[in-house]
Amino acid sequence: MNATTGAFLDGDGRLMTMKTVEAVVKEIPFNESCEYATIEGSPEFIEAAIDAAFREYRPDAFIRGVATPGGTGGIHHAIFNYLDDGDAVLVMNRYWAAYKNICRETNRRLETFPMFTEDWKFNVQGCVDKLYEIAEQQTNVMLIMNTPANNPTGYNVKADEWEVIMKALNDIANNGKNNVVLLMDIAYIDFAAPEAREMFKMFNNLPANFLVLVAFTMSKSYAMYGYRLGCLLCVTSSEEEAEAFLDVNKFSCRATWSNSSRLGMLVMERIHQDPALKAAFRAEQEELRLSLLNRANLFNKEAAEVGLTVCPFDSGFFVTIPTVKAEELAAELRKQDIFMIPLGDGANAGLRVALCALPEEKISGMAAKIKAAMDVVGA
Ligand SMILES: Cc1ncc(COP(=O)(O)O)c(C=O)c1O
Repeated sequence: MNATTGAFLDGDGRLMTMKTVEAVVKEIPFNESCEYATIEGSPEFIEAAIDAAFREYRPDAFIRGVATPGGTGGIHHAIFNYLDDGDAVLVMNRYWAAYKNICRETNRRLETFPMFTEDWKFNVQGCVDKLYEIAEQQTNVMLIMNTPANNPTGYNVKADEWEVIMKALNDIANNGKNNVVLLMDIAYIDFAAPEAREMFKMFNNLPANFLVLVAFTMSKSYAMYGYRLGCLLCVTSSEEEAEAFLDVNKFSCRATWSNSSRLGMLVMERIHQDPALKAAFRAEQEELRLSLLNRANLFNKEAAEVGLTVCPFDSGFFVTIPTVKAEELAAELRKQDIFMIPLGDGANAGLRVALCALPEEKISGMAAKIKAAMDVVGA
């Protein structure tokens, strides 16, 4: 049983693809898809990406975008362009490992705050304390928020929690000393309930030196992981800042990967421009979201029945079993041919279970197996 993969697989272990996307790909003339795209991406693609990211919750602000190879490219540009050498980026202590790699590559540092309190509430105070600490040390304060459907926990940050974090970020932006960059990693947003996008309304009327960046990706939302297309969007109350975003990030595209997938852009454009196709595509997305949620509901129900602690989960590809003995637990499960990824160490250690990679029949009984393995290793 392979619960390590970060892709949505069907009951036979094959990648779940989308029929609407496949049909559009097949309609695109080959020679058209082979051409270079413009460096920043076509205006039609950027508009499609804005719509795909925000839907009806588009912030009232200046919004610009540049094409990137997946969400990874956008996260790279954000970390590279909006921090200085040696600066820290703040993330939750349960985080996607690539953030750290990008920081190492770009000579930045990753700093974390404890994601949950002892009673499993999202640790807003931990986040805020760390933000103020970083504000003392560097000019640009960058916070990465991978929500909704966080990897690796499946947690969605809630409105009241956002309120406290936004208050602190606004306060820092208004202190006459710092700038704020909030990087929203929304890689899994289409696997959260559509209302999760309400958070985007918080980004209206921000101070001019409070920049929101949104890393959108087709990887999971269109099940086009290998095509490598995403879009880094900026949301700002300053037109000047929006134009600077475009200049700086276009330059970085040119200096790294040049242009991004033209086929991916054409797919997004066509779906966006055809209302019937868009409706069919969104219905398919919703079907996938609900089928993934069924897997999670089954796992979490059984976990509760056997007394297995799971990090708070709302939606997404993964759940995390918190345990300081994650390595030992993973090794014990491997003896039964069950593969899961041990993550972190100390306070943030845990076993990540990729529910996206397991069909329901394999999920049934899984919580009990993990609990039994925990008892064996004394976790
Ligand atoms: C938290 C998170 N952010 C961003 C990404 C970006 O992926 P991609 O570059 O394939 O779009 C991933 C992919 O696994 C992820 O887990």
